[in-house]
Amino acid sequence: GDGERINIAIDGPAGAGKSTVARKVAEQLGYIYIDTGAMYRAVTYSSQQAGIGPQEAGKLADHVTHLDIKLQAGDNGQTVFLNGKNVTEQIRSRDVTLNVSHYAANEAVRQFLGAAQRRLAEDKGVVMDGRDIGSHVLPNAELKVFLTASVEERALRRYKEVAGKQPVTLEQLAEEISQRDQLDEQREISPLVRAEDAILLDSTAMPIEEVAQAIVKLSRTKLAGA
Ligand code: DC
Repeated sequence: GDGERINIAIDGPAGAGKSTVARKVAEQLGYIYIDTGAMYRAVTYSSQQAGIGPQEAGKLADHVTHLDIKLQAGDNGQTVFLNGKNVTEQIRSRDVTLNVSHYAANEAVRQFLGAAQRRLAEDKGVVMDGRDIGSHVLPNAELKVFLTASVEERALRRYKEVAGKQPVTLEQLAEEISQRDQLDEQREISPLVRAEDAILLDSTAMPIEEVAQAIVKLSRTKLAGA
């Protein structure tokens, strides 16, 4: 009914368009967008800076307790603060991208970030994107979407994004994306998996704008029925 808010979980593999879709949906509903991948990236960047490797479980568990990660919505997308420092650019580096799945497999890291994500969603009205939001972090989210696209299409989108900025070929990107998919799907703790009650959307041949509209429509149906 009136004034009610729901939580929306958008999960899926790297490059399926989750963040763009989630941002648009949040904007249209007046909700808060939370990019959980950015949180895993911030932990990765911070650990790398501290010289802690992904296999050093004890050190990692201690390290995360000293981290304060804040996401702030702005005109040019989301700004990420790590212990007060703006790390928005740094967390998108290739060095972080190529290693984040290994840090994300650590139990202490997942517990720390999962708890933070649940707190952010307490008051409802969030659109959260990630890998394990519908399956693990917010199992009671009123709307769950699993967004996919072919590896080729996802590599092409990433290629257009980084064109001219990073010296990398389309083939390399496709290879890196499949590797990251595999690591995310095969890890022990809360792997990338479609929640049973998640609606499957394939964006391979569907413009991102249409995907966003479909999700907004679904959420209005949920709200009307709530
Ligand atoms: O969405 P992204 O590419 O920025 O995510 C970076 C990495 O973080 C991704 O390889 C897997 C991990 N991740 C995760 O394990 N769980 C989440 N909820 C979000 C991201």
